[in-house]
Amino acid sequence: MAYLDILNLEKSFGAHRVVKDFTLPIDRGEFISLLGPSGCGKTTVLRMIAGFETPNAGSIRLEGRDLVPLRPNQRQIGMVFQAYALFPNLTVAQNVGFGLRGAGVPRPEAQTRVAEMLDLIGLPLSEYGDRYPFQLSGGQQQRVALARALAPRPQVLLLDEPLSALDAKVRVRLRSEIREIQRRLGITTIFVTHDQEEALSISDRIVVMNGGIAEQVGTPFEIYNHPATPFVASFVGTLTPFDARVLDPGAGQVAAAGQTPDARPAAAAPGRRQRDPRPAPRGDPARPGRGARDCPAGHGPRGRVPGVRHPHPRRGAGPHHPARHLQPPRCPAPGPGRDDRDQLLGP
Ligand SMILES: Nc1ncnc2c1ncn2[C@@H]1O[C@H](COP(=O)(O)OP(=O)(O)OP(=O)(O)O)[C@@H](O)[C@H]1O
Ligand SMILES: [Mg+2]
Repeated sequence: MAYLDILNLEKSFGAHRVVKDFTLPIDRGEFISLLGPSGCGKTTVLRMIAGFETPNAGSIRLEGRDLVPLRPNQRQIGMVFQAYALFPNLTVAQNVGFGLRGAGVPRPEAQTRVAEMLDLIGLPLSEYGDRYPFQLSGGQQQRVALARALAPRPQVLLLDEPLSALDAKVRVRLRSEIREIQRRLGITTIFVTHDQEEALSISDRIVVMNGGIAEQVGTPFEIYNHPATPFVASFVGTLTPFDARVLDPGAGQVAAAGQTPDARPAAAAPGRRQRDPRPAPRGDPARPGRGARDCPAGHGPRGRVPGVRHPHPRRGAGPHHPARHLQPPRCPAPGPGRDDRDQLLGP
């Protein structure tokens, strides 16, 4: 049995079925992202796990213990909300210690724990403990919210778009910090986002949600390189879908709609200059730059195959590419290389 076992979860608001047959077994210490468009039910799933919503059907078990009948404060689950939701009238230290008072942690231990948590998030008690939320930046407030969720030492941490109110640079830094803290504590975490790059960069596994359904669950590599449905493909990457027929899966040969294997490039219109359609060998001085557009696995632009994700043609899987930390995209071997274009389109 999984550490956190979510089985056939259902939730409707009136006639609106918001979460449909949602099943997700999660291992201890895993970092899972729920990724999907606005309104697909991400927050509702999180709120059912936290105990703020009751499922209509299904079960949620933590180490075999049924959570559904328990109140939120009995579940040992910490949650960080999209809007920081700090208490504006409490200082940083009081905010972080808030959950400890309710849990009956003795005062001296609570003080030590608050100091530890503030150290963990890089806002030392001596400097930040007495500040009020309005005296902090958005990123600092979100770190305090994280410390507050972690202070009672929950078994599971739920993060509902914790970075969405922050600017792009702070987002990137803070998401790495969150991942680092999560790894250090080994805490099982579910992170909600609608940002595919964010999900791809920090998750052990991603759940792509659409209309209340988990369309695909997989590692970032699986989700990015082998999307299970057209929705996952379009949501996780940028692509241009087109109809094609697979001619030889082993050789990676396809024919686009309207083309037959015998099709040849259309003749140039009279008087119009036509570019040499043949792919240039890498480093061809006559046609510089063509080689750089190719797939790193050796497949030219013509070797693109639907369902096989290629890095950006000019930037490649550079430092800003969402897949930069993933393995290079897999192209069907031996695959149509840049010099195999004639083979792809026929003699
Ligand atoms: N308490 C509620 N009463 C009625 N409908 C609700 C309630 N909470 C959520 N919904 C509806 O359920 C659907 C899913 O909402 P949810 O907040 O889970 O989406 P989300 O995926 O988190 O979206 P976002 O990315 O915008 O936060 C939406 O259509 C929403 O209007
Ligand atoms: Mg939401």
